[in-house]
Amino acid sequence: MIVLGIETSCDETAVGIVEDRLTLRSNVIASQIELHAPYGGVVPEVAARAHLEQLLPTIDHALVEAGVRLSDVDAIAVTHGPGLIGALLVGVSAAKGLALAHDLPLLGVNHLRAHVEVAQLEHGELEPPLAALVVSGGHTSIVAMDADGRFRQLGGTIDDAAGEAFDKIARFIGLGYPGGPEIDRLARDGDPTAFRFPRAMAGSGDYDVSLSGLKTAVIRELRRLEAAGIEPDLADVAASFQEAIVDVQVDKTLAAARDQALETLVMAGGVAANSRLREAMGDACERAGVRLLIPSIPLCTDNGAMVAASGANLLAAGTTASLDLAVDPSLPLAG
Ligand code: KG4
Ligand code: ZN
Repeated sequence: MIVLGIETSCDETAVGIVEDRLTLRSNVIASQIELHAPYGGVVPEVAARAHLEQLLPTIDHALVEAGVRLSDVDAIAVTHGPGLIGALLVGVSAAKGLALAHDLPLLGVNHLRAHVEVAQLEHGELEPPLAALVVSGGHTSIVAMDADGRFRQLGGTIDDAAGEAFDKIARFIGLGYPGGPEIDRLARDGDPTAFRFPRAMAGSGDYDVSLSGLKTAVIRELRRLEAAGIEPDLADVAASFQEAIVDVQVDKTLAAARDQALETLVMAGGVAANSRLREAMGDACERAGVRLLIPSIPLCTDNGAMVAASGANLLAAGTTASLDLAVDPSLPLAG
């Protein structure tokens, strides 16, 4: 069974093709980073327009790369939420058009679930129950995937998402957009112990995190140094800030996994591309005896393969969508 997956929820026009649920055939991304960079963030109207221009060529490209024709495809999967409404509508409309024209089943994919399920392409069939940390530009959630495949929210951010915190601090210290990869790079030359930024809610006894206080603490420290005429070492700032985010994610996720007796953890979403988070989560899971599955970096940030993989799971379960599939900008992960 060959599933073509379309992802247009934010600023990547992406198409992936997956065969028999577990085999990646192609994964093509037309990035819009250059279009949004001058604005320092994603401009929703610009994103929707760029999806409109890039989607059909990206579908063609993905078919060529997979060596299949549209007539070989068995189903069309598309992200229908969460995300930017105008951006989502472009992908969903195109998917409906393809499904209708080629008489194929339509699969409505949850973007957050897809971030987790993409792990099956590199690590094989996921075997719930397991824990998942989904860290992206818009979301920071710790969830359990129960034996029946349903997600259950265990905790998450009560304010900023991890990626949002990375992007905001990067902008504040004059790095480009998106900020996460820039901070990751800069932090490699910095000392993570140079500044002691707060680890909010460290002892709160639940699995929630708060990142807005950290962001404020970094900004306040930089302003204080500036007022004192001291030039901060930005690599040290980046490394210390990153370390604080990483500490909080690792501690809360492992506490959740331990308390829920979950022996496998999937770490997913754009921030799961962070080199320090990958390393620290790897060390902590090894100590705790938890099996850690992290997608390779191109499958962590938004991509079409994750939509195809998640869609293939829906197809296998017989959960197809009708042609009146609606977009849902705030579709939750659990529930
Ligand atoms: O999953 P994703 O591509 O899009 C959303 O669904 O939001 O995540 C994008 C986020 C951005 O905030 C970006 O700065 C962050 O992931 N990100 C990173 C890294 N690569 C991407 N954050 C930290 N370190 C990275 N290496
Ligand atoms: Zn995403």
